[in-house]
Amino acid sequence: MRSFMGRDILSLKDFERNEFFRVFEIAEELEPIARNRRNVDLLKDKTMVTAFYQPSTRTRLAHEAAMHRLGGHVTGFVDAKMTRAGDWYQESIKDTVKMLECYGDVIVMRHFQQGAPHEAAKWASIPIINGGDGWGEHPTQILTDLYTVLREKGRIDGLRWLAVGDMRMRTMHSLAYALTQFDCPITFVSPPDMSLTEEMKADLDKYSLDYQEADHVEKAIADADVILVEPVVQPDYTQARQEAGEHGLTPANYKITRDLLFNKAKSDAILLHSLPRMDEIPADVDITKWSRYWQEAFNGVVMRMALLALVLGAME
Ligand code: CP
Repeated sequence: MRSFMGRDILSLKDFERNEFFRVFEIAEELEPIARNRRNVDLLKDKTMVTAFYQPSTRTRLAHEAAMHRLGGHVTGFVDAKMTRAGDWYQESIKDTVKMLECYGDVIVMRHFQQGAPHEAAKWASIPIINGGDGWGEHPTQILTDLYTVLREKGRIDGLRWLAVGDMRMRTMHSLAYALTQFDCPITFVSPPDMSLTEEMKADLDKYSLDYQEADHVEKAIADADVILVEPVVQPDYTQARQEAGEHGLTPANYKITRDLLFNKAKSDAILLHSLPRMDEIPADVDITKWSRYWQEAFNGVVMRMALLALVLGAME
């Protein structure tokens, strides 16, 4: 297996099956630290730099919490407008990361441009972790989700997935690439204008993903062991920021309600959502036996602990 030390985490297309399981093993080992709300000194000599060109609650704060749990340090920016990359100068990714690599040992980057973390990795001498790039990928979120499935169901292989939402979304791309390494058939349900692109389908065919598409959750939910939902009412991920404004409601085709779960879902299926949500999962679903998104949020910290420990060489 390739070493994780010094490695960029940019895409799950690069991930091999045994690498997924190694990351999950490390996460399981470190999980008690987070569960017991302890801080240890594993990364006491390391600093993480956050470079967030797009808003985030979970991805940035889970990485920061993970670094604190492991005794490391955190610096960075949460709004590029307050840096030279976001003012009159529009400083390039190259010039920015050439600075950031002097300030820490790993960079976590979220950007509205697809491929920006890859560009950063070309120039940085320290690992770059992709915290979401435009419509591109969101690898640490899907590693979190797979880890959640493993913890909740005891296995990943042999489970049938249902993914509902906007298939142009970065989480969906990372999910599709990840599942090529497992025995997991998946059904994608999305509005026609948000379906998998032909380019993405060609890629998934090349990687032999066992997938199909459907136009209504009702047609696919009964067989699903894992239901992963994302909004179809959402902002443009190629923009640095969009303020709140008028928006529509989620059509029933893409909504997971209590009634649907009670009447059609498998009794032991689990429901994931990386959040934030709109109305695609109403709040009254939260206390049903299917919901696992709060566990998923906790696992978001655990997964980032594992990734930081691995890329910074504190664990092999
Ligand atoms: N799940 C996720 O990426 O959330 P944030 O946008 O809040 O980071």
